[in-house]
Amino acid sequence: MTDELDQFGVSEAQITHAAVLIREGRLVAFPTETVYGLGANALDAAAVERIYETKGRPHSSPIIVHISALEMMHRIVATWPEAAQRLAQKFWPGPLTLVLPKTSALPDLVTAGLPTVGVRMPAHPVAMALLRAAGVPIAAPSANRFTEVSPTTVEHVRASLGSRVDYILAGGACSVGIESTVLSLAEERAVLLRPGGVSRLEIEALIGKVIDKQQVVTDGPHASPGLHPRHYSPKTPMYLVENGEVPRQGNGAYLQRKRPPVVQVAELIEMPKNAAGYAARLYGALHTLDALGYDWIAIETPPETPEWEAILDRLRRAKWRP
Ligand code: TXA
Ligand code: MG
Repeated sequence: MTDELDQFGVSEAQITHAAVLIREGRLVAFPTETVYGLGANALDAAAVERIYETKGRPHSSPIIVHISALEMMHRIVATWPEAAQRLAQKFWPGPLTLVLPKTSALPDLVTAGLPTVGVRMPAHPVAMALLRAAGVPIAAPSANRFTEVSPTTVEHVRASLGSRVDYILAGGACSVGIESTVLSLAEERAVLLRPGGVSRLEIEALIGKVIDKQQVVTDGPHASPGLHPRHYSPKTPMYLVENGEVPRQGNGAYLQRKRPPVVQVAELIEMPKNAAGYAARLYGALHTLDALGYDWIAIETPPETPEWEAILDRLRRAKWRP
């Protein structure tokens, strides 16, 4: 355990300090394998309210709750279907969030008034150590101001939230690099609410066909807040392009996968060709380029295959809308 923490430069004393703060109702940013989270005691409504304030996040956007053990999960989840058991066995700890009916122990504020909670066990030794030491489930959205690109390094967290957070646990760059898959098991059929670190195919291999959110008829608060149009956006205008067709005006940067740009660009970033490697680098590249103040960022569109689904989803949401 301590060895695992050492590897991230985190001490037991830092974990203990962070856990005390969580129990006191304060905010701690911490690394997970997907992105950094902004955590508060999920059972403490006043603490959770501070998450919304600190992020500038609307109260209509439910927050994922992190757990380190199934006993902890059962305090906040009311029903645990067979499909959940199978998925948890295979993918937890890992980048999969399951949406299930919640218990009354969990304040409604966490779930934006929904009768369900999104819960996941993170695969990061620092996150797991914090959860175990705190002994309470931790509500944590990504540790960035609302609509900004999610943080995958501690520097991103400091740049976005800095002194607004009571404490930040450092833990290196996030290995998955995009947010968890959000899957609802609260309806008759499993619904993919957000593609992410675990692919649709991996899930379907275990529990059969899952349907898309668009196929579910809903009214009001069931719509996924992750679909907010400016979610995940850099400030620099960003375009998805084919065949290296970058803008010809102004100074820009190009994220290349295969095709070189048709004209010279101010900055060219060669991205990994495989989806997992690409995901791990994407947000870091966007943070870096956004800070440089280019006129545009052009991104070579990845293929429409299942392994690229989560990346395409994030890129399409981040795309510039004038
Ligand atoms: O990888 C992740 O999931 C990261 C790390 C920190 O765990 N967290 C994260 O949280 O991305 P956030 O708040 O940025 O995104 C939460 C997503 C939203 O799209 C929200 O709609 C969905 O999870 N969600 C949470 N609870 C839900 C619920 N009860 N019903 C439907 N969707 C829910
Ligand atoms: Mg977020």
